[in-house]
Amino acid sequence: MADEQWRTRRGGVETALRTSAVWTAVTGLLADKQAARPTGDDRPLRVLDLGGGTGGLAVPLAELGHEVVVVDPSPDALASLSRRSAERGVAERVTAVQGDADSLAAIVGDRLVDLVCCHGTLEVVDDPQATLVALAGVVAPGGHLSIVAAQRLAVVLARVLAGQFTQAKQALVSDDGRWGAADPLPRRFDASALRAMVEQTGLVVEDVHGVRLFSDLVPSALIDSDADRTALLELEAAASRHPEFAFLGQLGAAVHVLART
Ligand SMILES: C[S@@+](CC[C@H](N)C(=O)[O-])C[C@H]1O[C@@H](n2cnc3c(N)ncnc32)[C@H](O)[C@@H]1O
Repeated sequence: MADEQWRTRRGGVETALRTSAVWTAVTGLLADKQAARPTGDDRPLRVLDLGGGTGGLAVPLAELGHEVVVVDPSPDALASLSRRSAERGVAERVTAVQGDADSLAAIVGDRLVDLVCCHGTLEVVDDPQATLVALAGVVAPGGHLSIVAAQRLAVVLARVLAGQFTQAKQALVSDDGRWGAADPLPRRFDASALRAMVEQTGLVVEDVHGVRLFSDLVPSALIDSDADRTALLELEAAASRHPEFAFLGQLGAAVHVLART
């Protein structure tokens, strides 16, 4: 496949179907924070990404001028992150730290963070509520927390479409949203329960909406152009925020929660 075609299908974080909606929300939030600062305050915003892995979010944010700390237990992921940030010329704005939620307070110290991200990671930690409390504890006054986590109903639908009806029922009724012992994810969330968990930390939830409503279900051969991808993203955004049909957001493969201090 030619380079150009590959980019059209896969895209970068800004345009890929998997990440585009969250990228738009996160960068919009950071732009608002920058715009709200008093004249002359042009320090970089501080972002912390727990489970930030190889820097799929961190490196592009650093390219926008933000200072990003990635905390992740995987040395291999952090090595890739360091290579990637050096290749993109932003190594001085990306700090890679091996750790987990228990390490956050010590890593941050008194330099609290403008935006704390935890994307695709709450599903795998030992104790999601304790992780949320630790994340909330390092958000600066006026700062935000961004959580992206796998949702239950998407996997129910996916198992139905795969003809795995027993697994679909298990995912629907189980406490952890798993479809069985072979399910690779330790847990999935329901939007309302995740909202309540974030609220329990004392943060104020500003927005909850589903992402990747349809894109994981569409064969990639049917998404042939930038126009197709844009139309699909616009459909997903419209569906997840539709005044009557916002319940469609619960079909999203993931839910995005934004909260503030
Ligand atoms: C599915 S990846 C998500 C990567 C990235 N945040 C994203 O959205 O694509 C999960 C990441 O969580 C990290 N991880 C696993 N256990 C963790 C834990 N207990 N605390 C923090 N991160 C963890 C993994 O090393 C991996 O980088």
